Amino acid sequence: MESPFKADAVKGKVALITGGGSGIGLEITKQLGKHGASVVIMGRRKHILDSAVSSLRSLGIRAVGFDGDVRKPEDARRVVESTFKQFGRLDILVNAAAGNFLSSAEDLSPNGLRTVMDIDTVGTFTMCHEALKYLKKGAPGRSDSSSGGVILNISATLHYTATWYQLHVSAAKAAIDATTRNLALEWGSEYDIRVNGIAPGLIGDTPGMSKLVPKDINSQAKNLLPLYKAGEKWDIAMAALYLSSDAGKFINGAIVVVDGGFWISQPRP
Ligand code: HXC
Repeated sequence: MESPFKADAVKGKVALITGGGSGIGLEITKQLGKHGASVVIMGRRKHILDSAVSSLRSLGIRAVGFDGDVRKPEDARRVVESTFKQFGRLDILVNAAAGNFLSSAEDLSPNGLRTVMDIDTVGTFTMCHEALKYLKKGAPGRSDSSSGGVILNISATLHYTATWYQLHVSAAKAAIDATTRNLALEWGSEYDIRVNGIAPGLIGDTPGMSKLVPKDINSQAKNLLPLYKAGEKWDIAMAALYLSSDAGKFINGAIVVVDGGFWISQPRP
């Protein structure tokens, strides 16, 4: 679908996207790139990153991939530093890396919970922490900018209620939302950095959807989804573009729900 934003909405910006090699992370990367940003993607699987970088470059996007695991502080630091070395600045950090599986609470081991918390929550915080010095107002390479940079943390709506077999992810995403709000308060006040979240609902054609959601969800859509369909990765990417561009310059500490009204919905009587 054609973007409603101008092609230079984030021109000259440099964006680092964790989990940018596939799914929602890749679509966010693509749209930031198509709207003028230079993009760096970080992920654990080199072959996935390589193929994503080729597809981004084929669209004329300045793209680089650095492999790394957000659970490893040394990887986070290396990728942030490499991003700065490559493009000379950092304006936008998107934390889209996530781990997931279905497990009942009874079968979930403490290490299973810890693993998802480590990837989603601690990984998000680690990336924010490493990127801070480059995102501050007046930071190296971005002294031309009158404000600090932008952080976007991808969470979910699972924890607004309770979700079967997703205790670990619900806990991790709730903690991400808390991290988003607290960083928005502290780093907004101190460094003029805007920190926001996006909470996707059911988004078709993503690793999360194919792993977690029953295949016949679209046939149940009339009962479950107010807009009668799952969303597209594009919907999440447009929210990311809005929040990271100057259109969102007064938005800080918000968690933007992009779910077509799913989490508030009830089955039709
Ligand atoms: C129960 C499981 C499990 C499973 C792993 N564990 N898979 N427990 N059921 N299916 C437990 C293991 O038993 C182990 O605990 C602990 O978790 C660590 O497992 P490892 O395999 O050693 O970890 P690792 O190799 O690091 O892999 C972690 C991973 C990850 C989380 C499984 O590989 C992964 O999920 N990758 C896929 C990424 C993905 O799908 N991303 C999209 C997310 S979508 P013990 O006790 O045995 O040591 C998303 C959307 C959410 O986040 C919202 C949807 C609506």
